Amino acid sequence: MQFEVFTLLPEVFPSYLETSIIKRARERGLINVRVHNIRDYTHDKHHMTDDTPYGGGGGMVMKPEPIFEAVESVLGLSAPGEVEEMPFDAAPGESNIPIILLTPQGRVFNQSIAQELSQHSHIVLICGRYEGIDERIREHLVTDEISIGDYVLTGGELPALILIDAISRFLPDVLGDPTGAQDDSHAMGLLEYPHYTRPPEFRGWKIPEVLLSGAHAKIDKWRREQALLRTQKKRPDMIEKAGLSKEDLKFLKTIEQK
Ligand code: ADE
Repeated sequence: MQFEVFTLLPEVFPSYLETSIIKRARERGLINVRVHNIRDYTHDKHHMTDDTPYGGGGGMVMKPEPIFEAVESVLGLSAPGEVEEMPFDAAPGESNIPIILLTPQGRVFNQSIAQELSQHSHIVLICGRYEGIDERIREHLVTDEISIGDYVLTGGELPALILIDAISRFLPDVLGDPTGAQDDSHAMGLLEYPHYTRPPEFRGWKIPEVLLSGAHAKIDKWRREQALLRTQKKRPDMIEKAGLSKEDLKFLKTIEQK
């Protein structure tokens, strides 16, 4: 999986990308992240990437030219008017590489969007800054807009890292455990069951007996029930959408009656 990140703050990325699972995935060639400085695609003396908004008002707006030029040159896309000279290149939007703008106005990121995006081999992430970006970037370059939640950050850099992390976990061999992503919270529409490790008793708190039984069917059943219970308690909104089996529903009913 090839990620192309476009940002005014490239220095934000290395420390996270050089850590833990993401570092290993990069070293093993499972993912590659290229971080491009939008400022490198300016041509004026002051390397301006933003300007005042038409119509007045406060704040600055990210200019279209450097962002278009950066994405088009990295992807080998042709700008309108250059199509004749480069007949084999796609224009922005005609290539099937998702060009994603990180913005609080986007669709809200979740596990199923991460899985959907993991099916692509190449993804572009554009990090917005300042008050906003020129609308023509949204209309004519970007193919998708993603938000990481209903709050406003100072820029799209942390959201881009979040997408890279969540998407990479779905790629074959990125996680040590091949079933790793299957049991995650949210993977099956439920929160994950509780985990325990040694010691079996800590400060008088014992682990649930069933986990020591060695009876796998019993353990699976207990884990399913625990996942149902904690999802109902912490995220009842997820229970409604989880597509539960008859057995799951029966279990939740018996609990309600207690
Ligand atoms: N940029 C600023 N806030 C954001 C958010 N919540 N999600 C994605 N990008 C953002």
